[in-house]
Amino acid sequence: MPDFKIAPSILSADFARLGEEVDAVLAAGADWVHFDVMDNHYVPNLTIGPMVCQALRKHGVEAPIDVHLMVEPVDDMIRMFADAGATYITFHPEASRHVDRSLQLIRSLGCKAGLVLNPATGLDPVKYVVDKLDMLLLMSVNPGFGGQKFIPAALGKLREARRLIDESGLDIRLEIDGGVTRDNIAEIAAAGADTFVAGSAIFNADDYAEAIAAMRRELSA
Ligand code: DX5
Ligand code: ZN
Repeated sequence: MPDFKIAPSILSADFARLGEEVDAVLAAGADWVHFDVMDNHYVPNLTIGPMVCQALRKHGVEAPIDVHLMVEPVDDMIRMFADAGATYITFHPEASRHVDRSLQLIRSLGCKAGLVLNPATGLDPVKYVVDKLDMLLLMSVNPGFGGQKFIPAALGKLREARRLIDESGLDIRLEIDGGVTRDNIAEIAAAGADTFVAGSAIFNADDYAEAIAAMRRELSA
């Protein structure tokens, strides 16, 4: 069985109590913290930046922080998030004029690098930079908001991405983001994902531990 990771998206957390919320999901069994950064330019919404990432580290969060940049351009934010304690930094290829260079920048700063593909973006941008990836993130909703419905075409794309990663022989995580629930997570895993972002499905639950355990049960069934 793959080494599955569950990464709650703090976009759906109570921002007024962010430190406690992150402590609570990690205590409830989450593996990573998914950190959505939006700039009201690349996407029509505005969220949190490197100061908040740094504040979580200062608060004592030791789990991997998976920074999903929905900003344009990306290089300054890459530098700031690396300084702020990010573990993974992923960005959308349309948002960088020099994708290869931005990927190299992430690794040169000691972080793990990844690309994020929107629902309508094909896998082509991955082809020539596969050796510079630690993660490939496929969006299964249009980026910008939590609580949207999973776009089923993402399943076929996951299967293609899984093939591409396996053929490369490289150690690259395949992450899915958007509309993941306990009801569809098994199907998503069967299509090849090993890392699951879930925002509303976890933070809108009354019991985070039960929500995460239900997902793990589905993954091991
Ligand atoms: C959307 C974000 C997602 C979002 C997922 O742009 O990248 O991480 O928070 O939320 P759910 O799981 O509610 O679809
Ligand atoms: Zn995200």
